[in-house]
Amino acid sequence: MIIFGAGGDLTKRLLVPALYNLATTHLLPERFALIGVDLADVTVDAWRDSLHKMMESFVGKVGSESKIDKVDDDIWGRLTRNISYVRGDLIDAGLYETLKSHLGGLEKDTGGNCLFYLAVADRFFGPVVTHVGKAGLFDEQLDHDGKPTRWRRVVIEKPFGHDEASARELNQAILRCAAEHQIFRIDHFLGKETVQNIMALRFANGMFEPLWNRDRIDHVQITVAETVGVETRGRFYEKTGALRDMVPNHVFQLLAMVAMEPPAGFDAQAVRNRKTDVFSALHTVDPKDVVRGQYGAGPDGAVAYRDERDVDPASSTETYVAMRLSIDNWRWAGVPFYLRTGKHMSHRFSEIAIRFKPAPYAPFEDTNVAALPPNWLLLDIQPDEGIALQFEVKRPGAVVDLAAVRMAFRYDDWFAREPNIGYETLIYDVMTGDQTLFNRADMVEETWRVVQPVLDAWSRNEAEGFPNYASGSDGPEAANALLERDGRAWRPVGPSKGR
Ligand code: BG6
Repeated sequence: MIIFGAGGDLTKRLLVPALYNLATTHLLPERFALIGVDLADVTVDAWRDSLHKMMESFVGKVGSESKIDKVDDDIWGRLTRNISYVRGDLIDAGLYETLKSHLGGLEKDTGGNCLFYLAVADRFFGPVVTHVGKAGLFDEQLDHDGKPTRWRRVVIEKPFGHDEASARELNQAILRCAAEHQIFRIDHFLGKETVQNIMALRFANGMFEPLWNRDRIDHVQITVAETVGVETRGRFYEKTGALRDMVPNHVFQLLAMVAMEPPAGFDAQAVRNRKTDVFSALHTVDPKDVVRGQYGAGPDGAVAYRDERDVDPASSTETYVAMRLSIDNWRWAGVPFYLRTGKHMSHRFSEIAIRFKPAPYAPFEDTNVAALPPNWLLLDIQPDEGIALQFEVKRPGAVVDLAAVRMAFRYDDWFAREPNIGYETLIYDVMTGDQTLFNRADMVEETWRVVQPVLDAWSRNEAEGFPNYASGSDGPEAANALLERDGRAWRPVGPSKGR
């Protein structure tokens, strides 16, 4: 595994801990070599030590990316038995010649399969893939059936492009050097257990599917709320914003899991075809159906976005976005999907909430029951993973009244947790060649198409009234108006009180 961007945050915080967890669960190949590539002039020992230090910083820390009790010497030894570091400039062809001879030297130990991981800024995606290709490092060896006996694969992080045209261009550039089956466009939300579990919930159970359509579902709300701000990423975030950072990628992945048709099989092609159908059926968003927000200061000394490091004091970049989407197909015609995501909100909380239509008739006249509250199916993604169904029962007592109750399933109540930071499954899938949880070229292009009119409109008009929500709140007032217009309301951000 060759990591471009060996000294970066992603490598230290997520990739190496994920590899460590794979080594713990014996899912790392016996013949494994880790090669770091970066510009810094450091020795392999210094690189390895910096990775180890980061792992140690996670020990016993609740809420850190990786929860471990100690860094086990034996596991660490297995992971770093064959570690090396290649220094070089990513845009210098010479680096790739050096890398080529380095990989050649490792071939007898590893068998020659190569996983290139691009943990680098997005402007390097095209150039690195092009150089790797030109150096002949994507050449696979195939058997008689065309299956690779020596594979070459590349993982490309997000952001994959910054709009529809740039995503298309990037696809064209990388497809000139590598074939689609070698390209793994990663979205780490797909490594989250609950996200994958939506498919199990829908397609391994007979009881939900008959309800899963416009006849029974009133609307769907998808919330991805974060308490963190932009922290040290001001420079990146200023030109990215919440829409580009979260919506066409992470949030749309959640939407696709809910909205896709049942695939004919669970292979990559079948699943990705059905997801692509959803993205293609998504109506291009009307900017009038979108609200943008930016956080101001808040309690406990929370600073306003405009006061963050590397941020323009008059910045128009949004840190919050909410939108109404519709899907133009038979299953979902007339069922709005409302999405919202933001930073510095009241809770770290991701949920997909499916609201069912009310009972067709309420035979409760002359009782305390004034209106029938809705039924909800709640898919909790984080921090607590689980699934809950909210429905009405009779409140105990002589008078007839109703109360909302929940049947709730929590992952933690049923299963022991494997150490998991979300990247393990995805890295394992790349090693085994399973593309089910990765984006295909057409998928990323479709998702950018959907939001493109909003990007265009916002680039023409500066945001007004920023900041428009306080840090620690649930977002701007205008987001409430977006649903009120349709006679609906957002669910509270955060785990519901009560049982
Ligand atoms: C990243 C975004 O892709 O996802 C970040 O760039 C965001 O801004 C993060 O905070 C959220 O991921 P998670 O797994 O922490 O919910």
